Amino acid sequence: MTTLVAGIDSSTQSCKVVIREAETGALVRQGSAKHPEGTEVSPQAWWDALLLAIEQAGGLHDVAAAAIGGQQHGLVALDADGEVIRDALLWNDTRSADAAEALIAEYSAGTGPEAVNSGAAAWTQMTGSVPVASLTVTKLRWLADSEPQNAQRVAAVALPHDWLTWKLSGAAALQDLTTDRSEVSGTGYYDTAQGQYRYDLLARALRISEDQARSIILPRVLGPAEQAGTGDAARGWGHLVLGPGAGDNAAAALGLGMSTGDVAISIGTSGVVSAVSPKPIQDPAGVINGFADATGEFLPLAVTLNGSRVLDGAARMLGVDHTGLADLALAAEPGAHGLSLIPYLEGERTPNLPHATGSFIGLSLASMNPQDVARAAVEGLLCGLADGLQAMTTLGVPVNSIQLIGGAARSAAVQQIAPAIFEREIQVPEPGEYVADGAARQAAWVLSGSDTAPQWTTSAVQTFTAEPARHVREAYAARRHLFAERS
Ligand code: XUL
Repeated sequence: MTTLVAGIDSSTQSCKVVIREAETGALVRQGSAKHPEGTEVSPQAWWDALLLAIEQAGGLHDVAAAAIGGQQHGLVALDADGEVIRDALLWNDTRSADAAEALIAEYSAGTGPEAVNSGAAAWTQMTGSVPVASLTVTKLRWLADSEPQNAQRVAAVALPHDWLTWKLSGAAALQDLTTDRSEVSGTGYYDTAQGQYRYDLLARALRISEDQARSIILPRVLGPAEQAGTGDAARGWGHLVLGPGAGDNAAAALGLGMSTGDVAISIGTSGVVSAVSPKPIQDPAGVINGFADATGEFLPLAVTLNGSRVLDGAARMLGVDHTGLADLALAAEPGAHGLSLIPYLEGERTPNLPHATGSFIGLSLASMNPQDVARAAVEGLLCGLADGLQAMTTLGVPVNSIQLIGGAARSAAVQQIAPAIFEREIQVPEPGEYVADGAARQAAWVLSGSDTAPQWTTSAVQTFTAEPARHVREAYAARRHLFAERS
């Protein structure tokens, strides 16, 4: 009989479930359900969506194992009874921007820009990443300062996929919470290179003593194919083996079958440049987060807050749909007659400008037309990601191939303009649920008990090349810099 596994992607916008054959990876059935909008969300809404998506995917009665890939960093604070203390603050919630700055300053020596640099360097050595508003540690500091009555009730801290795995298991004890390296590496209180929690940083964030911090339960960090438990018997899932799960970017890397030298550029709600690296990466400049992957290696990432919604906004502004936007952009010349969009529409994380707004720069009579506005939107989105790619190569991360995934990878304009901006060939795999697929592959791996993940056939790719358009990036870089100084 065929063994089935389930992969779950609990993303910012929705929950998706794929059910695949464990041996071949063949898709058997799938389901999905929407999440509420906003950057502050009740975890119960994720659980309700997960149950609905499971039902739509035909249930888990005949499924042997399941694992969850989830949006990273979100703060799920639990009290001593295992109840959620307040709505979760998501990765794209920027209210903890000042907390991030304060935490950097507290580890810095000297004054002025040097102090910021030394604080940032200290954090990369301690955790692998410089704190920004996305990271969980800054959300804890915000909680301690803004909602002290809630902070005092914190008995355990979980991230979205940790909490959902716990719910799937039906466990009630906080001690049963689990996580994996990829997820915990994005908390800001975990030493990614050494593989251990930093209770001193947890204490610092919550303004409590290290002893008090040690009494807070943090999820047990599982290895890449270690079993997290079994499903909730009360729901008829007692047979279900649970995988450790992963952060969504690490799950996508597993779904794409990435190894050293492979880069994925994902344009969904966030824009993410990620690469598999055999060694931990530390970038005191803060462009690259030094995270871990879901196979035992590392997954340095550059993340922008403004991903596919840059194109959504541009299409709305021009009164067209996405195909219309792509047609307009492709009808314009590279460089959009000197027009650049600096797309920091919802503040930005990379570069760290949480309070910024976007700007069109270089408007002239020549560029003030729908084609050039559309082109500038696509180019601006891609230039932000090209900065992340460049930072990877500067840090010595091998870049041999680039795959473009996520909703915006379906845009003909993104596909054709990306190789010009990145100055490299790009590959676009068939549209797919790569996060859920990676979680499913992990579930199959846990079942197999093998040292490596099962080999599943990867999807066909389309290759795109273009003449490099360096002048576009140069114009953007000059303007992004001016803009950053003004913010
Ligand atoms: C990664 C990050 C985003 C979220 C989106 O650091 O913040 O990619 O994981 O789901």
